[in-house]
Amino acid sequence: MNEHHHATPLSTNQHLLRWVEKMADLCKPDAIHWIDGSEEEYDRLCAQMVASGSFIKLNQKTWPGCFLARSDASDVARVEDRTFICALSKEAAGPTNNWVNPFEMRKTLKGLFHGCMRGRTMYVLPFSMGPLGSPMSQIGVQLTDSPYAVVNMRIMTRIGKKVFELIDRDFKRVVPCVHSVGAPLAKGQADVPWPSNSEKYIVHFPETREIWSYGSGYGGNALLGKKCFALRIASAMARDEGWMAEHMLILGVENPEGKKTYVAAAFPSACGKTNFAMLIPPPHFREQGWKIWTVGDDIAWIKPDAEGRLRAINPETGFFGVAPGTSDTTNPNAMQALAKNTIFTNVALTDDGGVWWEGMTDLPPAHAIDWQGNDWTPALAKEKGVKAAHPNSRFTAPAKQCPTIDPDWEKPEGVPISAFIFGGRRATTMPLVYQAFNWSSGVYVGATMGSEMTAAAGGTLGKVRRDPMAMLPFCGYNMGDYFRHWMNMQRNLSETPRIFHVNWFRKDKDGKFIWPGFSENMRVLKWICDRVRAGGRAKESPIGWLPRYKDIDWTGLDFSQEKFDELQSFDRAAWRAEVLGHEELFIDLHSHLPKELVYERELLICRM
Ligand code: GTP
Ligand code: SPV
Ligand code: MN
Repeated sequence: MNEHHHATPLSTNQHLLRWVEKMADLCKPDAIHWIDGSEEEYDRLCAQMVASGSFIKLNQKTWPGCFLARSDASDVARVEDRTFICALSKEAAGPTNNWVNPFEMRKTLKGLFHGCMRGRTMYVLPFSMGPLGSPMSQIGVQLTDSPYAVVNMRIMTRIGKKVFELIDRDFKRVVPCVHSVGAPLAKGQADVPWPSNSEKYIVHFPETREIWSYGSGYGGNALLGKKCFALRIASAMARDEGWMAEHMLILGVENPEGKKTYVAAAFPSACGKTNFAMLIPPPHFREQGWKIWTVGDDIAWIKPDAEGRLRAINPETGFFGVAPGTSDTTNPNAMQALAKNTIFTNVALTDDGGVWWEGMTDLPPAHAIDWQGNDWTPALAKEKGVKAAHPNSRFTAPAKQCPTIDPDWEKPEGVPISAFIFGGRRATTMPLVYQAFNWSSGVYVGATMGSEMTAAAGGTLGKVRRDPMAMLPFCGYNMGDYFRHWMNMQRNLSETPRIFHVNWFRKDKDGKFIWPGFSENMRVLKWICDRVRAGGRAKESPIGWLPRYKDIDWTGLDFSQEKFDELQSFDRAAWRAEVLGHEELFIDLHSHLPKELVYERELLICRM
């Protein structure tokens, strides 16, 4: 094996040392490497992966500090059917989670992890979710045999020596995370570029706050600080401690007077969080002085402050964003954020050592190497439908490289939240925007949210499923109890955020998006801010407050009242089916469902 610069522990914490030793005994790695988090160490790991064939170094003139990784074709997204919440009782995990008895699961894991790191190095990777030392932050240690996971985690979280120093003071708060790609190497056996195992287990023990992940090297399966910790484990912590861990972007809207309104928005995976978080207002708005500031694009940790206002932090430091569709026209801020020091996974490689994906440019390259390493041409795409980049291909880019990153994005106490926005991908039924009547009807709107399934996880593409608060795959406990927690949160607030629902994805009879989206979403956001600041007008409808055509600023966009009416139209028959869909979810959750939501449903039916 290669040289190991930190074979000796970088921590003096006896609990941590004993745990690492115990896990090494189980996993039997050839070596142990304590991660210091330095740039030098990062460069060395990347160079090592280039040498082993796991990374391709991109053209450093055009893509400085950038690398490309291609995963195994069977390891391309989160695996929801292999994700487990192992609470002591099945009831505690609830009907929306896969549950296995924790004792049984521990036995299974012991078998799987026995000798799973043979021939590999075990990295000891300490990380902080949230700014170091912030009262809202949490610490984890990920043991992993994947250098890919290590270098991605260095972009996505705060890692290294400074975190070990915090652990040396106190180990009690640390969440232990064990990760293996499940591909031990026999003596002399050659490695593959993307080791993984066809058997996958993404396992959470919410009561003991532990994570065990086996068999996958991809995204949320392997970067354990993200969905496993910051959502599944953190949601359980948050319920116990009176805060919230949500699948939400956070952005600040600065108005022409220089006042900022922060909103947090929950859209399911691949439904527009990164794009919305980095929105650039249309020219007319920019000229007036409107500006959007980015705090986070995927996860928000939210807690009431001493004054009873909700404050949110972004626990991450990077964007693990969907590549396809990202371009200089749709999301120039993301394009600048990913222009350097970025790791690309499963995008296409161009002949000049750059990257490309569907939607990046109008004109595709004449030739490229696709995400599976094969020759690709536009003709091949046309004739056989072969994609150059995988639909769930991603960029891992440092958040601080985003031109609109908010000056307060690392503020330990977070930013004040004035509104929550829920939104799914819906071809029919759901209007462009509406506002819930109050907190409990807003919780109902979030709880009953539906969205068409995307490539971000395995499953049937395009099928509408209920995805409460965009948390269906990420809630670490019973979804009914989660709704109860949402209801309860309002009791400690002196200022209640307003709640909205948006849908950028409604289609016309020809299957085309009615709404131009992206930058134009600013018009909707402005109406939301107007409503929050109490000046904005609206009309009442059975589902909530709707903007009238004249309540939205249309300057610079040719969008007729007729089209707007089509977007906002309330289709009684469609809503009938919609409410029956709500009922199906409620039947599953009935034993833990807060009464308020049952009443909200009755009221909705009455109004309809
Ligand atoms: P995760 O990282 O999986 O949580 O996804 P996300 O919610 O951050 O989604 P993202 O912003 O990456 O967008 C996913 C896809 O939706 C991309 O292909 C975007 O181009 C597309 N998209 C985003 N916003 C809009 C919009 O306003 N209109 C339309 N039509 N498409 C959009
Ligand atoms: C999502 O699927 O919601 C993501 C990507 O943000 S992953 O980190 O893989 O979960
Ligand atoms: Mn996400």
